[in-house]
Amino acid sequence: MKLTIFGAGYVGLVTGACLADVGHQVLCVDVDAKKVARLNAGEIPIHEPGLDAIVARNRSFGTLEFTIDVAKAVDHADVLFIAVGTPPDESGAADLKYVLAVAESVGKLMAEPKVVVIKSTVPVGTSDKVRSKLSQVLASRNVTLNFDVVSNPEFLKEGAAVDDFLKPDRIIVGTETNYAREVMKELYKPFNRNHDRVLYMDSRSAELTKYAANALLATKISFINEIANLAERLGADIEEVRRGIGADPRIGYHFIYPGLGYGGSCFPKDVQALGRTATELGYDAPLIAAVETVNNRQKTTMFGKIAAHFGGADRLGGKRIAVWGLAFKPNTDDMREAPSRTLVEALWRSGATVTAYDPVAMPETRRIYGDRPDLVFAPDKYTALDGADAVVVCTEWQQFRAPDFDEMDRRLASKVIFDGRNIYSPEHLRRDGWTYISIGRPPVTGGTSSQ
Ligand code: UDX
Repeated sequence: MKLTIFGAGYVGLVTGACLADVGHQVLCVDVDAKKVARLNAGEIPIHEPGLDAIVARNRSFGTLEFTIDVAKAVDHADVLFIAVGTPPDESGAADLKYVLAVAESVGKLMAEPKVVVIKSTVPVGTSDKVRSKLSQVLASRNVTLNFDVVSNPEFLKEGAAVDDFLKPDRIIVGTETNYAREVMKELYKPFNRNHDRVLYMDSRSAELTKYAANALLATKISFINEIANLAERLGADIEEVRRGIGADPRIGYHFIYPGLGYGGSCFPKDVQALGRTATELGYDAPLIAAVETVNNRQKTTMFGKIAAHFGGADRLGGKRIAVWGLAFKPNTDDMREAPSRTLVEALWRSGATVTAYDPVAMPETRRIYGDRPDLVFAPDKYTALDGADAVVVCTEWQQFRAPDFDEMDRRLASKVIFDGRNIYSPEHLRRDGWTYISIGRPPVTGGTSSQ
């Protein structure tokens, strides 16, 4: 099938490349001429494992193309995906101006019936708004043309997006017409390994499914973080508790890892937008609000632990703190809402210097903060430790999981590890005489547990 994707950002690019890879003829259109030029020169603007190979392959086959020509893009296909950004506006609600601008262009330029598929994460009711916009623009042109609007939210995890797209758990298709349903069935046929993975529903339910999925995952994280904080105060070990509850299949092991709070481009934005929707409806949704409150607090807990260790925030001036991992999670350079940011900003406010190492997110961090004397980027993880008063693990990159602790000891000014991801064994570190402070577990101080 011929397909057009509006927006060559994270979602649009992955969607376009993966749809091309199963045999569709895909044209991606973006307003950013520089980005399109880079893509046409074979450069991938984001870090996503596997994406470069899939884009290169399909560009060479001619099944994936990029353009800034909107008229050509509308003309190219009968099925047009909207995958443009929906950043939060000042009130926290998703801003639909880019989505509606695409609908307007499509309405102005379409010369035959189209199926418009909304991929962007949009508040419930947006399909209706896109429908009205198209009708309005067509009416102003005095033309009568059929169109369908489909809600088809994505469930891609950064760092695993290509795999998630190619091997989906489910594909949600929200539509009100049989025709659109048949078109979507045909389009997603290559992804139905063994059984039909497409779930059909009305578009409002499809839109709400996306928010409900992300809000529930965020709830699991805030819940385990709350229990971790209680475990600390009760002298219990959250890792034992996590295993203990995860064994119940109704709870499961996924998404109950305690940490520094969730970050990224989806959870914070989507939980906030869902809360906003509830407020607009005059519905009090305390659970959703609490998920966000708990997460915001969780992002500050590591700083509290560091300050407590050094005898108060006012004692951090002149200290050198090494930070391992800056990205909001491994396998991405995405720094949006990363808990590391809350931490390093608090350290700076207290006068500490941060020496940081992240396998891929350092250029992005430099772009955000610019050059500053209290932020030093290290060429590798051990160099970041040189002369530092402590190291803090913020992101659980694979290469931090089994470091050479003797080498760490030689580099650090004192044997202190703060672990925001619980990736080390307290037993091991206690034996080797470390001070080891993690999340929801009894602290190990100077080689002896304080419990
Ligand atoms: C998420 C959803 O997983 C995906 O389905 C949706 O489409 C977009 O949002 P993503 O933002 O890429 O994907 O990251 P994810 O892997 O879900 O992690 C989000 C955050 O939660 C990270 O900061 C991670 O460190 C944190 N997290 C995750 C925990 O703190 N504990 C966990 O148990 C799991």
